[in-house]
Amino acid sequence: MIDLSERLGLSISIVQTEDGWMLELGNGVKSAKPQPRYISDLKPVLRNPQANTPDVLYWMFRDVRLVGDEEALRSSVSMLRYDVSLFMPGVMSVNGEVEDGDEFVKAFGHYHPYTRSGHTTFPEVYEVVYGRMLFIFQEPEDVFQPTKGIHRAIIVEVDAMDERKLVVVPPNFGHVAVIIGDEPVVTSNWVARTFDSQYAPFALMRGAAYYIVKRGKDWAYEPNPNYGTLPLPEVIPSTALDTFGIPTDLPIYHACLREPNKFAFLIEPPMPPQTEFKVQGL
Ligand SMILES: [Fe+2]
Repeated sequence: MIDLSERLGLSISIVQTEDGWMLELGNGVKSAKPQPRYISDLKPVLRNPQANTPDVLYWMFRDVRLVGDEEALRSSVSMLRYDVSLFMPGVMSVNGEVEDGDEFVKAFGHYHPYTRSGHTTFPEVYEVVYGRMLFIFQEPEDVFQPTKGIHRAIIVEVDAMDERKLVVVPPNFGHVAVIIGDEPVVTSNWVARTFDSQYAPFALMRGAAYYIVKRGKDWAYEPNPNYGTLPLPEVIPSTALDTFGIPTDLPIYHACLREPNKFAFLIEPPMPPQTEFKVQGL
């Protein structure tokens, strides 16, 4: 049993069961019914759709909260939702026979829709609470027509032991989480509760712009051929990412309850910088 109370700010532990790893919520901690994602659910986005192990790839616990905070959550951050996810470690393979080139366990991947003002898509805040993982961010020319091409691809490697384990999915980027360590990974996130994530573009393109595959004892990125020409991914540390002024002195669950205004950009992100132009003549 791995107690995450200190890192999450909520009484939650990783426990080992007959079926692998699971989260156990302590007294007073509640969530919506946990949703599993099986490898069969990810068939449309797998590099090798024949891969059939491990069976469960991750669990999503949505709307996690301390019962005693429900009133405060309703009054100060009613537009936001706090989730905790548990990912299994390992490589996805056919019948458990792992080979080089097989993909590491990953999430399905998705885009967020545009905000009400329509100038960007919704961002999202993640904290890597346990384990080692990476995020792939990709900025398409058109969020809903990914076949038109990708502007930028970014790979951010994060370890829960890093000083900076906060990752903000920037507006206008799709994202996918990939588990590259030998241990389970737990993330927490705050996100606007009003939208539905867009999974179809990832299914249409058979995953993100890059697949993260096993190469020897390490990971490597491999372009997804369905995208055509791709920019090389920028592999950056999490410290290179803009964290939009989010407090980092306590777990994001409590940071948001203490300073909800610092998370308001998740509902209405700042306008992107305007292109400067000069008025000529007169
Ligand atoms: Fe998301």
